[in-house]
Amino acid sequence: MYKNDLILRAAKGMPVERTPVWVMRQAGRILKEYRKVRKDAGSFKNLVETPSLAAEVTVQPVDILDVDAAIIFSDILVVPEAMGLPYEMVEKKGPFFNKVITAEKDLSEIRMIGGGELEYVYEAIKVAKASLSGRVPLIGFAGAPWTIFCYMTEGEGSKTFSKSRKLLYRDPVLSKKLLHLITESTIIYLKEQIKAGADMVQLFDSWAGILSQEQYQEFAMPGIRRICDSIQEVPVTIFSKGAYTSLESIAALPCHTIGMDWQMNIDHTRKIVGSNKTLQGNLDPCVLYGTRDNIKKETRKMLDKFKGTRHIANLGHGVYPDTDPDHVRCFIDTVKEYSSR
Ligand code: CP3
Repeated sequence: MYKNDLILRAAKGMPVERTPVWVMRQAGRILKEYRKVRKDAGSFKNLVETPSLAAEVTVQPVDILDVDAAIIFSDILVVPEAMGLPYEMVEKKGPFFNKVITAEKDLSEIRMIGGGELEYVYEAIKVAKASLSGRVPLIGFAGAPWTIFCYMTEGEGSKTFSKSRKLLYRDPVLSKKLLHLITESTIIYLKEQIKAGADMVQLFDSWAGILSQEQYQEFAMPGIRRICDSIQEVPVTIFSKGAYTSLESIAALPCHTIGMDWQMNIDHTRKIVGSNKTLQGNLDPCVLYGTRDNIKKETRKMLDKFKGTRHIANLGHGVYPDTDPDHVRCFIDTVKEYSSR
């Protein structure tokens, strides 16, 4: 069915000839081919909402970088929008929400998604799958409930998300209601992505690291656990950036793969997670700003630490927009060469 299904086999713990590799945020601003389609689309949102164009930029990294998986081009913020909070993507600034959730009365403004609102994503998945025609698998994704809660309550990016964290203390009941609505919407959304053809899915908990251990357990983990319990059709990857103090409970989730950021120690993580899960990561994206020799050296060092066991090579977070695509290619080629010895 696939010409290259390395990543699916690695996720399931099956034998592989070499370590599969892809790059978080691979479909995007690092590629001049992306910037052209993005310009023609007129805006980020037009690009996300036009299935033929979203599919085109999804496939670009497979053609140009030769990665072992495609990830559907979209954004985690389509879920809050489908729930009733529209977002804008402000040029050079980032996301902005006109309406946010700050009090119980605001809940009447939002609803659980029915599924149909995000038809454009499912259509993009179908078009991308047709265009990939089995070359590599396609990854679907969503934000984890806590990270989506951050944007729905803060309304924009932030270093501290203090408005979001304030709400957890001031109104834990409302917070849990909102997290519940996001969780159930995310399950519906991921199931529809899988029906449309997503071969595996990743949950991005980008702001996991700003909560205390206690709060992560109370507010973030229940939703993640419920999503893992509900999605058994395809392998699930949990990437909880910075959730170091909750690693034991993340390791106990019924998921296939755990994403690691670049600050995590590989031996320690493997010891806690055990041998029944795949680890994904975790080269510091800043390594790609260095020389090609150094990229090769650091990539090999990382691969040695993972020892080839249940590993999907990736960066420890999304590739930064001003990274030279040739350096990304150097990382990918090094993984392929060195791990197939
Ligand atoms: O290759 C891919 O992974 C592309 C698909 C993708 C995008 N966003 C496209 C995008 C994915 C998987 C995301 C996830 C996402 N979006 C996350 C989680 C991953 C992470 O990096 O932690 C988060 C927190 C968001 C929310 C978001 N979207 C922010 C904060 C921003 C502005 C800052 C930034 O990264 O640019 C975006 C915009 C965005 N999403 C762009 C792209 C390509 C840039 C917009 C543009 O091209 O103009």
